[in-house]
Amino acid sequence: MKGIILAGGKGTRLYPITVSVSKQLLPIYDKPMIYYPLSVLMNAGIREILIITTRNSLKMYKTLLGDGKELGLSIEYIIQEQPRGLADAFILGEQFIGMDNVCLILGDNFFYGNDLTGILENAISRKNGATIFGYLVQNPKDFGVVEFDKNNKVISIVEKPKKPKSRYAVPGLYFYDSSVIEIAKKVEPSARGELEITAINNEYLKRGKLSIELMNREIVWLDTGTPSGLLKASSFVKTVQERQKTYIACLEEIAWRKKYINDKQLLEHGKKFEKNNYGKYILSLLEKGSVAV
Ligand code: TTP
Repeated sequence: MKGIILAGGKGTRLYPITVSVSKQLLPIYDKPMIYYPLSVLMNAGIREILIITTRNSLKMYKTLLGDGKELGLSIEYIIQEQPRGLADAFILGEQFIGMDNVCLILGDNFFYGNDLTGILENAISRKNGATIFGYLVQNPKDFGVVEFDKNNKVISIVEKPKKPKSRYAVPGLYFYDSSVIEIAKKVEPSARGELEITAINNEYLKRGKLSIELMNREIVWLDTGTPSGLLKASSFVKTVQERQKTYIACLEEIAWRKKYINDKQLLEHGKKFEKNNYGKYILSLLEKGSVAV
């Protein structure tokens, strides 16, 4: 299973903050935004990752994450010259995906919760077709909305509907088999000029190969693409980290717990940041019994 993080886009909802800075480099409390989707992929055991971003920001992402080796990952990069839409990820990522299955996560989506692991495992275990997720929201009109029957069989998916058929939004996390590449190539731009991910999901639906997993309320999903979303996510991370003394999206910790890196490598990571709480937290992981698992 390969992973793609979409970290391009215009970020117009965050202007003027994102006029000169890539959205996914902005802080969510104490880490760059992209750490959060990357942590989801790592927690799902996905180690081969492609980051898609703009020409202007490429260097900054490379400075931040490099080739991923220090975290036991392999990270590649591709430039998206124009924000042509989410489905463009599979056209740009064709060579990277090859014959493998692939998980796409949007760089501005925040997920947190113990129950996440189980539903990600379910999605990964399906070798054929696609898996999307459903999340109950107040404002379905702002999202892709999925309608399904009592057996969780998907009936329809509509992008930002005026009259939503359900209150279940489709979060920015999707799993596909490699036929997604051919499907993406045939997608026509929508009325707003984008290659829509909903078009891909509808094609899988038509083929009878679309599954849905519902995210329950134990899972937190936030869109961090607006000023208020940024603040909400930052407050959430601060609150959880201070209360529980465990960090959200500490990439070094995840790499270490997954045994991608050893104690010595974790120590080196910790020393890099030892003057701040992030570094101190990493170092504390090596003190037996100090941190909850
Ligand atoms: P959006 O939030 O839909 O678009 P945006 O980031 O350009 O922001 P705005 O709506 O405020 O103008 O994008 C969702 C995620 O996907 C986000 O992390 C950026 C990324 N993205 C790309 O990388 N390429 C694209 O072509 C698009 C449309 C989005």
